[in-house]
Amino acid sequence: MTVNDLTSKANRAFEFAEIQLRKLVTNHPGYFPLFTKAGKWKHESESWTNWCEGFLGGMLWILARRTGDSWWRAKAEEYSRLIEHRKFDRAVHDLGFLFLPTWKVWHELTGDQTVQNTVLQAGETLAGRFQERGRYLCSFVAPESLFIDIMMNVEIIFYAAEKLSDQRLKEIALQHCLTTRRFLVRGDGSTAHEGIFDLNSGAFLCQSTHQGWRGDSSWARGQAWAIGGFTTAFRYTKETRFLDTAMATANYFIERTPGNGIPPNDWDQPSPKATYESSAAALAAAALLDLAQQVTDPGLAQRYQDCARQTLTTLLTDEFLAIDRPGCEGILLHGIYHERKGLGVDESVMWGDYFFLAALDKLLQNAASLSVLITVPQKQNPQE
Ligand code: GLY
Repeated sequence: MTVNDLTSKANRAFEFAEIQLRKLVTNHPGYFPLFTKAGKWKHESESWTNWCEGFLGGMLWILARRTGDSWWRAKAEEYSRLIEHRKFDRAVHDLGFLFLPTWKVWHELTGDQTVQNTVLQAGETLAGRFQERGRYLCSFVAPESLFIDIMMNVEIIFYAAEKLSDQRLKEIALQHCLTTRRFLVRGDGSTAHEGIFDLNSGAFLCQSTHQGWRGDSSWARGQAWAIGGFTTAFRYTKETRFLDTAMATANYFIERTPGNGIPPNDWDQPSPKATYESSAAALAAAALLDLAQQVTDPGLAQRYQDCARQTLTTLLTDEFLAIDRPGCEGILLHGIYHERKGLGVDESVMWGDYFFLAALDKLLQNAASLSVLITVPQKQNPQE
């Protein structure tokens, strides 16, 4: 696909996103969906945990910035203010997911110090989950539980540490990343969803999972969280071991995924309930674009960019975009939330839509990345 083709398809997706998001915030004001059920955002299914309330606002901020339209800007502020109280939320580990796409972006656009203070408070609050003995930020499930997902949230602590020149916060973020690297990332670059610790001694006990197939298998979305999280940890610390881990997890993702860039929910699962997990693909594309900017080897940078572009090229097809699907209220089809619980299986998911737009936005903003023809060879997939 040529650069012009990709650009025009990305612009078409943004136009479609405007239609879908305008309908969502108009028809269901103040509502924060997680996943669709039979294509519809509003339903009474359980949410398992409250971690998604920053992604809708995040998409509104992307549209506000891209269009310069005051309507999107007002909605972006409105949906950010609706979650402000969560800066004190001690019940979840997801404050990065809530405040990085919203309040941090708001601050970057305006320089407003009071807006930044909200992000800093959220970072302080998340740091309160630090378990001194095991040296990790615990998941919402239990104090003895460490999730790979938290790698995507720890940025807000690095950010607060940097802005506040707070060595204690920096150390918490650093120790969390080191513990995750040691116990959740395996020698082949694959990751476990969860680690369980002994609370008395701090000893690591075992790998486990909630949304993947087994404790020793590889949940694709967790793998993508690891790529993004370790890339960010390297960006803040310049510790090359984090860059090495980001590359190892990226290489594993790419090697296990079919040439179209779309993984299943878990690569090891023998009988998956659905073929695709498009949200893992979208956020891997966003993470690979970030990783490409951190690596110094131009060949590797090109490889990660090419994989991200191939993935986005697939997601921009009508097989994955919900264009011309009456009754489908999301942007991206074929995502999975929680396969075991039967929540959001082969549906649109809010974070999938967000990371899809975020990845397209990165791609379109990077003029250099669009200055060459995209010639991604179709990789032979060892799984097929
Ligand atoms: N709870 C984060 C995820 O579902 O990936």
